[in-house]
Amino acid sequence: MIAIDGPAGAGKSTIAKRLADRLGFTYIDTGAMYRAVALWALRQGVNPSDMHRMEQLALAAEIELTPGRIRLNREDVTETIRTLEVSSAASKVAVIPGVRRAMVAKQREIGERASVVMEGRDIGTIVFPNADVKIFLDAQPEERVRRRYQEELLKGASIGESALAEQMQERDRRDSARADSPLTQAPDAIYLDSTALSIEEVEETILKIVRARVTNGKEIS
Ligand code: DC
Repeated sequence: MIAIDGPAGAGKSTIAKRLADRLGFTYIDTGAMYRAVALWALRQGVNPSDMHRMEQLALAAEIELTPGRIRLNREDVTETIRTLEVSSAASKVAVIPGVRRAMVAKQREIGERASVVMEGRDIGTIVFPNADVKIFLDAQPEERVRRRYQEELLKGASIGESALAEQMQERDRRDSARADSPLTQAPDAIYLDSTALSIEEVEETILKIVRARVTNGKEIS
């Protein structure tokens, strides 16, 4: 079990996917699960901050993760959950303890069944505090905005870079300031700043850490 946490745009998804490929592990994007619940709320006209209704939705949501895809109530929503509206709503639903309880239970179930690289905000702190390897992947705010903006451009962005920066700041603030499972580095996580590193460099650095753990006699699962 490899846990990767960090703020938006730090490179978690890209790196977690590549590591999973290299190691033959399953890649689990926990942010996609919060996004799926948020999408359902937006479609149903439920306020993402409504604690009671959001907890009901989170418990009722049928979320299915298959390599590279996510399904909500049997519908493939892999692309639909990537809008800025869903990003913002996901960060709001993720504040609600009942929603987190439901998602964490699903994540633990998945992680106990298979060898996984799981990425999110609370994987090393709450979901799997005994993970074999914990990485806190970070990057300077300007660089994180730049990366996200490039992604938005590829999708035919309708937002300017400064508006995107503001949205990301607000989301990071909410993710870090919430009372339940805020984004924070686990004491035993390794901090990695990817600002000046290429994807390959980040990948190799983490692979070295993983291999060091294995040769120390500890079994990776
Ligand atoms: O990783 P992401 O940007 O797709 O995540 C979307 C939102 O979900 C993010 O703003 C915070 C929340 N999230 C969370 O609270 N805990 C996780 N383990 C993963 C994501």
